[in-house]
Order: sequence, then C-alpha cells, then structure tokens
Amino acid sequence: MTTVGTAAADSGGGHGAPGQGDPYFPLSGNGGYTVRHYDLDLGYEPATKKLTGDATVTARAGQALAAFDLDLSGLTVNRVRVDGRTAHWTRHGQELVVTPPHALRKGATFRVDVAYSGVPQYVTDPDGSADGWITTDDGAFVAGEPQGAMSWFPSDNNPLDKASYSFRVTVPAGYTAVCNGVLDAQHTRGGKTTFQWRQDQPMASYLATATVGRFDVQRYTTASGIPVYNAVDPREAAGAAPALAKIPEILDWETKLFGPYPFSAAGAIVDDAHDVGYALETQTRPIYDRAPDVSTVVHETAHQWFGDSVSLTSWKDIWLNEGFATYAEWLWQEQHGGDTAQATFDHYDGLPATDSLWDFPSADPGNGANIFASPVYTRGAMALQELRDAVGDKDFFAILKAWAREHRYGNGTTGQFVALSEHLSGKHLGTLFHTWLYTAGKPATS
Ligand code: TRP
Ligand code: ZN
Repeated sequence: MTTVGTAAADSGGGHGAPGQGDPYFPLSGNGGYTVRHYDLDLGYEPATKKLTGDATVTARAGQALAAFDLDLSGLTVNRVRVDGRTAHWTRHGQELVVTPPHALRKGATFRVDVAYSGVPQYVTDPDGSADGWITTDDGAFVAGEPQGAMSWFPSDNNPLDKASYSFRVTVPAGYTAVCNGVLDAQHTRGGKTTFQWRQDQPMASYLATATVGRFDVQRYTTASGIPVYNAVDPREAAGAAPALAKIPEILDWETKLFGPYPFSAAGAIVDDAHDVGYALETQTRPIYDRAPDVSTVVHETAHQWFGDSVSLTSWKDIWLNEGFATYAEWLWQEQHGGDTAQATFDHYDGLPATDSLWDFPSADPGNGANIFASPVYTRGAMALQELRDAVGDKDFFAILKAWAREHRYGNGTTGQFVALSEHLSGKHLGTLFHTWLYTAGKPATS
C-alpha cells in the first residue's frame, strides 16, 4: 500500500504518507502537508468527454518533505512542477507521487502545478454508487462524496484538509459550467465560454463541483443579501420550480435555527441524471440528479451548516452530516403543518427489530459501504430527537447553534458533540448517546 519515493536529489525530508488513516478510506488524503488553495483551470468537451486540467495547489509542508502524494485516479499527467521547477512524478493507483527537485523545508509554503488530461472515469464506491465526474447526455454531473474528487483534479482528498478554491472552466458556447461560490466572470470568445468561480471559505474536496450541461440560469439576491445562482436542466425545470422558489425561505428559516449562513453564495444545480440516484450538498450550491422536492432542498441546505461548514473528521462520523440534515427535514415538517419530529421518531421507533434501520449503530457504520444507509440518516436523526427530549427545546437548539459556531469552517467529532451537549445542558448524556449512537440493534424503547 505504501509507495516509497526516490530520495530527493539534495536529501533531507521524508515521504509524506499516502493516506490520512481514515479507517474506511485509508488512501484518501495524504500526509506531510496541508493545502491552502486550489486553483483549477479546466477545459471540457462534452462531445468527446475530454477534460484538460491545470491544477495549481498551494500548500504548507508540515514536515520536511523529499516527496509527497496527491490523490488522482485515471487521467494522464503531462507535467508536474513544484515552485515553478519541473518535478519527478510517478503514479501508484490513486497516488500521484511527486518528488520535487529539492526537498521542501518543514513549514515552507509551496506550489504544485499539475497539467493533466483525459476522459475522467468516475469512482465506484464500496456501496456500488458512482461519484466524481459522471458524464450525462449533455455534459457531466460532478459530485465527489466520498472519494470522487480524485477523478477530476489532484488533491489532498480528505475532509480534514479544507482549502479555498478558484475555478476557470472553459466549455463550448451554449454550455454552462457551474462550480461552488460566486461567479466572478463569464466570457465567450471563439465559440467557447469560460466561467470563473471562487469559493473563499474553506471547502472539503468532496464538496467541489464543476458541473457542465445545457442549463437555464436564474440569478438573484435574497432579501438577506445572499447571491443565488441556480442552473437547471430545462427537462427538470417545471418539476424543480416549486422547491427552488423556497430557497430564500429555507435559508432564512435555517439561519434562525442554526445561526448565520456560513457562505457567501447559495443556489442549486438541477441536472437530468437520474442514474446517479442521489443529491449532494456541494458547497454553496447543492446538486440534484433530478427535480428535488422541498424536503430534499431543506436537507441539502442544512448540510451547508452540518457537513460543509462543520465537516466530519472521520467518515465513521457521517451521522454528524446525515443525521442532522435529516433532522432538519423533520423540523421543517413540524413547523410547516406536518408531523412533529416526535411523531416522525415514533413512526420509525415502531419498526420491528429486524428492519434494516437497526442494522448497525449510527456512529459506527462498520465500513464505507454503510455510510449512506438508513441507520446513519434516520437513526442519526432519532438520536437528535432523543437528545431534544432529554434536554428540552431551549438547550437543544442552543446546542445546534453552538455546534455550528464552534466548529465553523473546521471539523468535529462525535465525541466533541457529546461533550458539548453535556456541557450546555449540564446533564449526563452518556447512556443516551451510547444507546442511540453506539449500541447495535434496536434500542429498548424508553
Ligand atoms: N450526502 C448526500 C445526501 O445525503 C448523499 C450521497 C452522497 C450519497 N454521495 C452518495 C448517497 C453516494 C449514496 C451514495 O444528501
Ligand atoms: Zn445528506
């Protein structure tokens, strides 16, 4: 599994680890450095499916480095430079191993420039789902959770290493390229259109997108001042309109519940990509594989706080994303004339012990094939309802806000969430969380 780099010409420094030790995705991410910024200059031709990329990664060495890895799967690397000088590189599976001409000093800021091209191949995850650069009949649906970012740009592909991004994507005129954050410029010249996007707040690589298609674009600014950019496949436009119209209301409602919206832009990408089978909370601008309903928009928008701004530390803590986003759906129903969250809880609590909902505990899915299964989503939301029931509404909503505030733009762990809940409520919650997050099988009803 470990690749051994050739010693740097002038010695000094080790080889950054090929992974960050995530138990489910051991090779996702790399050791030895952290990224500050990704500058991605891309060209895409829907007709030939060919991607041309030039990625400039600005990073800081956490140790002296004779060599280090980036995650990249498929594609052809044409050239690598470090600080403007040609670097030696090899490929081992998803690891692009870079040996700069001189070892990097601990603490040094350095720039890696990777020129690459080819037809991207999406990643198949342990649960069989596709993620990454997924071609459609008019472009590509680009969603990288959990591993797919490496199918279209070289990165430190682990949510622990968040960075700012800028994108320049050139596509044939008539196509739209939609990324995260704000659109700085768009110009058409010689039959090609270039879209320049910028995401200033820290972002995990799996939340990056550069989706391409023939889209209708809607732009406006909400009354609370957030610029919205929606790109909608015309074939899904009628179905999507009712839910998209609620984006400002959902943003305001979630801001009241969870605290300030963490990003400087919002919106949606609604594609016609039904084979994908899921939506993703791509930062600032969730991507939907079809026209979403309101509940799905509530879910993906809630992820902007829980998942995107506050990121997980290890993939086994995925309930911190999905349990929270699912609970936001329950709260939306409760406050918009539907079932109370308690009634929704009771419904699921009525499922027999043999139901797949109880297949594994929310905070210990066991392996990467389980991270998007119902014990993570529904049982995770049930754990939050149990917490709310134990501490009362005032403390519960204070806990949600404090979680979003204390880990804003960073990462959190289940242990930290438990500690925060106990601290703010002044209650011992060990048994509750042990039962709902860590104990196999259906919990005994309280
Ligand atoms: N995080 C997405 C959501 O709940 C779902 C998701 C992303 C997913 N990637 C996936 C589901 C891969 C299944 C397989 O909004
Ligand atoms: Zn989700």
